[in-house]
Amino acid sequence: MYRDIEKRAKEILSEMTLKAKIGQVTQINFMGNNVDEVAEKIREYGIGSVILSNSQFAGFVEQESVKLDRMTYFQKLSTEESPNGIPLLIGRDVIHGHNIIFPINLGMAASFDPELIKSVYECIRAEAADDGINWTYSPMLDFCHDPRWGRIVEGQGEDPYLASKMAAAIVRGFQGDDLSTEGVLAACAKHYVGYGASEGGRDYNHTEISDYALQNNYLPAFRGAVNAGVATVMNSFNEINGVPVAASRKALTDILRGQLGFEGFVISDWASIAQLKNHGLAQDNKEAASLAIKAGIDMDMVDNCYFDYMEELVNEGTVSLNELDTAVLRILKIKLKMGLFERPYQKHTEINLEEHAAKAKQACESSFVLLKNSNSLLPLKANTNICIAGPFADLIEEHTGSWALEKGGIEIKSFRAAVTAVAGEKAIIEDFDGLSQHYLIPRNSDVVICALGEPRRVTGEAQSLTSIEISNEQKALLKHLKRSGKPIVGVMFYGRPTALQEVEPYLDAIIYCWHSGSMSTVAAADVIYGKSEPTGRLPVTLPRVTGQIPLYYNALPGARHMNGYYGESGHDILNYNDCEGTPLYPFGYGLSYTGFQYSSVKAECDKLSLEDIKSGASFNISVGVKNTGALDGTEVVQLYIRDSIASRVRPLRELKGFKKLKIKAGEEVRVCFEIGYDELGFYLENGEYTVEKGKFEVFVVSNCLTDNKLEISIL
Ligand code: GLC
Repeated sequence: MYRDIEKRAKEILSEMTLKAKIGQVTQINFMGNNVDEVAEKIREYGIGSVILSNSQFAGFVEQESVKLDRMTYFQKLSTEESPNGIPLLIGRDVIHGHNIIFPINLGMAASFDPELIKSVYECIRAEAADDGINWTYSPMLDFCHDPRWGRIVEGQGEDPYLASKMAAAIVRGFQGDDLSTEGVLAACAKHYVGYGASEGGRDYNHTEISDYALQNNYLPAFRGAVNAGVATVMNSFNEINGVPVAASRKALTDILRGQLGFEGFVISDWASIAQLKNHGLAQDNKEAASLAIKAGIDMDMVDNCYFDYMEELVNEGTVSLNELDTAVLRILKIKLKMGLFERPYQKHTEINLEEHAAKAKQACESSFVLLKNSNSLLPLKANTNICIAGPFADLIEEHTGSWALEKGGIEIKSFRAAVTAVAGEKAIIEDFDGLSQHYLIPRNSDVVICALGEPRRVTGEAQSLTSIEISNEQKALLKHLKRSGKPIVGVMFYGRPTALQEVEPYLDAIIYCWHSGSMSTVAAADVIYGKSEPTGRLPVTLPRVTGQIPLYYNALPGARHMNGYYGESGHDILNYNDCEGTPLYPFGYGLSYTGFQYSSVKAECDKLSLEDIKSGASFNISVGVKNTGALDGTEVVQLYIRDSIASRVRPLRELKGFKKLKIKAGEEVRVCFEIGYDELGFYLENGEYTVEKGKFEVFVVSNCLTDNKLEISIL
């Protein structure tokens, strides 16, 4: 079929005027109030795409709701009245939900459950397609080590392997197995590449990324998306080592297409072509347009650089017709692969929002991370006398995270309402009234449940913080509540990782619930009372204090074994004089309502030749995991490697496998992994993948800081 697509695309191209080609590489935005302007441009130029957004900060400002009939009207104009009748791509930021809002992506990465996430995105795509959308700007795959950066909440965490699995799951959830399937959305892997390295966590800032780090940390998630067949890619705003990605042929063509094999088309991020002037790389939008299309940006999002200057650039020979045609062909091929010429319209389908809400609740429970549970305080018994406190007890919209553009779906319950509904009729639910909480002591309660968090508006785009500690008001509240002598459950509704060292001693139990959308509070109440279990594991390190940033598990060893992440190695020189070097909670960490014991790691054979590995042989690794508690429970068994001696410095731990499984109380199961060529190598700075001879430590553990290993060798 695809050979035909190439042929058909060229046939369509051959009938297009220069003006129509320029229309096709242009995206304009529909703001809700500019129907006629959009309609006119579609009719006259055959615009390639419309984005439904009235702001570059689409996540933050009220957006016009999407409606199918309006999208059908635009599509009808494009297919019946535009110069070549080429269908429109109708794009929207469908990031972690459409009507039903799911947990933010950093939260869903905590599920360590790609199959679940794929099924989540099948629900999300159905809702978006039902409103006429056929293109989404998701998954966001920015690798980030700095939680001061607000957009860390959109990403897949600090591990390249987990991120690559999540990337593939989201792409497959949106696109299905075949892009021409009815009701799918074309996905968009963004922001390519390196945006998450913004210096100081300050959005849009400079990024300094070595080729070696680019290949091994920042590219793997995009490899996952490309290998899953992602239709489009969006460039990032940042410059890498002095070259803005929007003008980087090395990034957008040599690596993205040459190394990763990407065959779709690249859309620019909002006005990032025009922003080449801000970078000081272009005099004006005309020069910016020329730089961008030569680098490999095929479609221009809303700044009209291509629309205004491409004709001049082609006529004067600065941009060759072939360079323009290449971009147009890439766009036409995706539209052909999507079957838009045969079936341009999305159509209404029956959406069962209750089912989607149930899926959202499942995603919440799978994303919530139990960080502390002293004396097995949780789960609470139904009639425990409780006191509900904290600023997040009565908030609603704050649970919807940084990208919730539609407001449909279901009514979101406050945490107080959700807990009250579960607590049971006899439970005394003492109440605080607003800020006076600082002065009331919960007298008749046995347990205080304190709902804390950060406003969703301090997360996401252009929302950097200098401190990731919890707010002073919330610290003061916890100190006050501690005086009551009652056990306190901290329910943490945060988007980004938070530094909890100062308040951890006040809390007897801590559940990290992220910003988890429509069902967040209902799921949190069920988890607190044991009607379901929190099964998330941290996809990102929680430092003790802000000053430890950057602090991440896949760190390189350093010259003197000084990396504090894994504990000081006995040297009298410490990472910091004023803080331990270890995290408060490490990558992969999370408790369960039961306990698990691991047997020693076994390998069927602990030596293989490099030739055998290259021919497909692999090490079969296994471990016994026993549920030692009285409750059935879910464990995420994690496999890490340490490539002890190699031609490049390798991280102290690298996640190379994980399995999430439910184990009955008292039962022991054998968990098996196969690791071979794809798991035991790394990329050289030139993008060449290499597996080398030598010793590897293999850990099969419950998180990166636990120790249960054996040694294997490649001979
Ligand atoms: C924004 C964001 C990007 C989003 C795009 C369209 O500036 O950087 O993530 O998809 O513009 O809204």
